[in-house]
Amino acid sequence: MKQNDLRADLSLVLVKPDAIQRGLAGEIISRLERKGLKIVAMKMLQMDKNLAQRHYAVHEDKAFFGGLVDFITSSPIIAIVFQGKEAVEVIRQIMGETDPAKAKPGTIRGDLALDLGCNLIHGSDSAENARKEIDLFFSQDEVLEYRRDIDKWLG
Ligand code: RTP
Ligand code: MG
Repeated sequence: MKQNDLRADLSLVLVKPDAIQRGLAGEIISRLERKGLKIVAMKMLQMDKNLAQRHYAVHEDKAFFGGLVDFITSSPIIAIVFQGKEAVEVIRQIMGETDPAKAKPGTIRGDLALDLGCNLIHGSDSAENARKEIDLFFSQDEVLEYRRDIDKWLG
């Protein structure tokens, strides 16, 4: 695999405040890990308003923007960069639909949440947004490059 390929297929996940408060961080991270996705960066932090507004800038004109910023800054989160084949799409599938009441069983939101606001997890919605979001949370040298022996069994 070429060096550049190692930096492709990244997605940013946020384990949201409700997940930390409910003790579901391990469950959520575990589901993504068990899929074969590789953790290449991770930190716990409490987002400030500025970071939240930048992260959710695409929604700044929406009526729910203020509530969304209040929620995501209300308590600590865990920010994680996952790497893997089609990581963005794969993670969106594992997360389930935005509204947990409509999310399918078997997905994180479908199995573990009910409320549109408290939907446990954020995942980037495109490779381009993933790159932008990763840069908001991590410096380049915090996103690690390493191989796992198991990678050869994941294709
Ligand atoms: P996220 O960005 O948090 O991963 O969630 P998402 O892509 O599934 O959903 P998105 O459309 O990006 O919306 C961001 C978050 O805003 C809240 N939301 N509220 N009241 C509403 O109509 C509404 N719509 C979205 C959700 O908590 C969603 O995760
Ligand atoms: Mg989104």
